[in-house]
Amino acid sequence: MSTSTDHESGSKRPRLIVALAGLVLALLLLGAGGFMWLSGDTAGPSIGGPFTLEDGNGRTVTDRDLHGKYVLVYFGYTFCPDVCPTTLAAVSDALDKLGAKADQLQPVFITVDPKRDTAATVRQFTASFTPRLIGLTGTPEQIAAVAREYRVYYAEHRTGPGPNDYSMDHSSMLYLMGPDGRFIAPINAEQSGEQIAAAIRKLTS
Ligand code: NI
Repeated sequence: MSTSTDHESGSKRPRLIVALAGLVLALLLLGAGGFMWLSGDTAGPSIGGPFTLEDGNGRTVTDRDLHGKYVLVYFGYTFCPDVCPTTLAAVSDALDKLGAKADQLQPVFITVDPKRDTAATVRQFTASFTPRLIGLTGTPEQIAAVAREYRVYYAEHRTGPGPNDYSMDHSSMLYLMGPDGRFIAPINAEQSGEQIAAAIRKLTS
């Protein structure tokens, strides 16, 4: 049994662990903010940054390609049995609730399982929620780099001896980025579409 953010197995405990992971992230963000304050930098904690990844059609997508719109970023993986699909369904619902305002928002899913999540797998997955959702994958190194920028935790959790016998433990958080690519705020991923829409409305008004 993993002691880390194993939110994918069947017991009740993983929910608590995900909540704890969220708390740890919040503390990290606060810590980063404190550090920035101490160092005299008023820009706030650094979340996000430049990346080069690949979309569901195999086209290269960089962070700059997304500038001009608010971007809602979520890290997960397509084989996730529970949390990722629930979150992305809520994001899709939030887009509906936002109405015309959703035109200013680009939702992006970035896989933390590049070994199994090929471009085609990611495309099929994101299309099942909403055609507006961009899914991104990359080499293990590219994924590691972007996850580090967003302070996303992820790790393989072995479930058997075969090469594909694993789930991914990963932190679950939505990141709202501004049209200039700068981090605005984290949004709790364990909310309804209505709540996520309300948070986005508040943060973009
Ligand atoms: Ni997941």
